[in-house]
Amino acid sequence: MRRILVTGAAGYVGGTLIRRLLADPDTEVVGVDLCEMDHGAEGVREIIDHPRLTLVREDVRNTAALAELLPGTDAVVHLAAIVGDPAGRRDPDKTRAINIDASVNLIDASRDAGVGHFVFVSTCSNYGVSDTDNLVTEDGDLNPVSLYAETKVAVEKRLMDEKTLPWTVCRFATVYGVGPRMRFDLTVNEFAIDALNEGVLEIYGEQFWRPYVHVEDAARGVEMVLAQPDKSAFRVFNVGNSDENYTKRMMYELLKERLPSLEAKWVQIDEDPRSYKVSFQRIKDELGYETTWTVPSGMDQILDHARLGAFPDPKAARFRN
Ligand SMILES: NC(=O)c1ccc[n+]([C@@H]2O[C@H](COP(=O)([O-])OP(=O)(O)OC[C@H]3O[C@@H](n4cnc5c(N)ncnc54)[C@H](O)[C@@H]3O)[C@@H](O)[C@H]2O)c1
Repeated sequence: MRRILVTGAAGYVGGTLIRRLLADPDTEVVGVDLCEMDHGAEGVREIIDHPRLTLVREDVRNTAALAELLPGTDAVVHLAAIVGDPAGRRDPDKTRAINIDASVNLIDASRDAGVGHFVFVSTCSNYGVSDTDNLVTEDGDLNPVSLYAETKVAVEKRLMDEKTLPWTVCRFATVYGVGPRMRFDLTVNEFAIDALNEGVLEIYGEQFWRPYVHVEDAARGVEMVLAQPDKSAFRVFNVGNSDENYTKRMMYELLKERLPSLEAKWVQIDEDPRSYKVSFQRIKDELGYETTWTVPSGMDQILDHARLGAFPDPKAARFRN
């Protein structure tokens, strides 16, 4: 039986990843989450009784408590963090303590406990401002322009010095799609729900490029990394698809095809300077990873679920970080 510890278990990615891992009858999952955000235990609520899942309500800053869970663990997937630029700014000291210090302590504890593989989930936001004529690869310069991305880069740098504990960094594109814990503060999800419910989108930074990946494909990327440690250890992988870089204007146009009366208010404000197109060739070539969703199919998924009444109150705090 393979034993995998997943931090941030109750979150948007965590809920999807844990369900996928449990689909393998030879996998046992230990999920850790503090469950103190507005979404509480939402990502895992419906699987709490699963016989191969143990959920531990704990703060990742409590390294001693996490260290007790590590003996016999084959792999750690570290998702827990204060996620996103606005959330990261709210209490910078707390963001650094959770995103950097707790992560570094968990890396050390995992090495000491003989964990076989440590997967750190990072972000393509690390690339910050870049050149959009060329797709940026894993070897591109990191230019974090937010505290959130700075904390991710700091942990990545720590891992680069780690020679004993096999590690992998997964730099996710911005995630979208339906998961057990929904987030409507992410561009594709937010645009789709607002387009349907409000008929108008307020759009700033319409020309800036970003890569996007469906939550199921993001989780599949981690699964493929875990399944091929001989190829994925001591490597950084962007997780997404090179054809899935979009601007907000492109997203508006895709939604307008689906909702013809949709309008846009183009807002000129002090704009977010991040613009980057990312290459996902490495994970495809080295691990055989392919995505199964696209931004248009993900928009259709959100619209279908919303029309069935799945999201009666998408503005609620539990859907936003
Ligand atoms: N969603 C995206 O677009 C995206 C993109 C790139 C990378 N990522 C990364 O993926 C990971 C998961 O993101 P998500 O979208 O699922 O976010 P999320 O906020 O839904 O999940 C994070 C989880 O971590 C938990 N957590 C926070 N602080 C904790 C603490 N001190 N102790 C224990 N648990 C704590 C929260 O309760 C939450 O359930 C993060 O590391 C994030 O940086 C996400």
